[in-house]
Amino acid sequence: MNRIPATSDITGAGAGGLTARPHRLRRTAALRDLVAEARWHPGQLVLPLFVREGAAEPRPVDSMPGVVQHTLPSLRKAAREAVDAGVGGLMLFAVPEHKHPLGSGALDPDGILQRAIRETLDEVGDEAVVMSDVCLDEFTDHGHCGVLTPDGRIDNDATVRRYAAMAVLHAEAGVHCVGPSGMMDGQVGAVRRALDDAGHTGVAILAYTAKYASAFYGPFRDAVECDLRGGDRTTYQMDPRDRAGALRALALDQEQGADMVMVKPAMSYLDVVRTVADHADVPVAAYQVSGEYAMVEAAAAHGWIDRKRAIEESLASVRRAGADLVLTYWAVEAARWAGR
Ligand code: PBG
Repeated sequence: MNRIPATSDITGAGAGGLTARPHRLRRTAALRDLVAEARWHPGQLVLPLFVREGAAEPRPVDSMPGVVQHTLPSLRKAAREAVDAGVGGLMLFAVPEHKHPLGSGALDPDGILQRAIRETLDEVGDEAVVMSDVCLDEFTDHGHCGVLTPDGRIDNDATVRRYAAMAVLHAEAGVHCVGPSGMMDGQVGAVRRALDDAGHTGVAILAYTAKYASAFYGPFRDAVECDLRGGDRTTYQMDPRDRAGALRALALDQEQGADMVMVKPAMSYLDVVRTVADHADVPVAAYQVSGEYAMVEAAAAHGWIDRKRAIEESLASVRRAGADLVLTYWAVEAARWAGR
């Protein structure tokens, strides 16, 4: 018959009580909270928001339950709600009524994104950091992040010139921070120069430094009605198998004036978040993207996972990996949970 071992046998220490028992700090929720390492302050959460030109009312995004394409008035309300929950930043994406090969809506001074920036600022002022997406995929009819050469390839330099002009329009609308997300070579330097030349030296750049050609952007493309017509972004976004490239991109973006750098997506790239966090001289963001959101929501809707625990666990992993801020569609809920 097996003998039940004495306590001293289990813990490897004598009867003197000098025994390591990690369970002691896990006994109650208060103890666990007291010593938890990876936490988010609501002010470090950024909520991405979509606005749709010409929409009479908010339109649900089917592949992102709980997320909508806003009208300008509903955008204001959502911005207010987020700020009241303590959310630190808002990242604005706009969908124009008409798409165009050159994405011309992006450069219309009265275009939908410019209007969305003005409305949001009018609502929240400096209570949150208002950020804008500097990219063309929401505006082009072919769905690519830039303009194309006659033979259908991305025209990097012509695209970068458009990003620079877009960033200046966003700055004129009052944005605090621009997020060039198209992964064009030289985009950060060009945007910085254009902003500075136009006198907007105070507008910050959140660089999409390590943005991967990911399948997890699928639902976002529904949200911005982006149809790539069977194409992909593998010639300009990073290859999912590549980690060292993130460090090269980090060096380039910092050199060109990035104020913050981002890794995207988050969940499948936590090693990259850690690597970038270990080497960056500026704050590091991670983007918990639409596919990460959709996976959790879909599984939770089936009752296959515990929604709140899965969200909190995924957010903790991003923090543990070393991110200083996170873009997440759960920002408002997570801010409320964090602030409770
Ligand atoms: C490009 C952009 C994308 C996302 C943010 N900015 C899509 C892409 O590169 O295809 C994806 C965000 C998400 O999936 O939540 N403007």
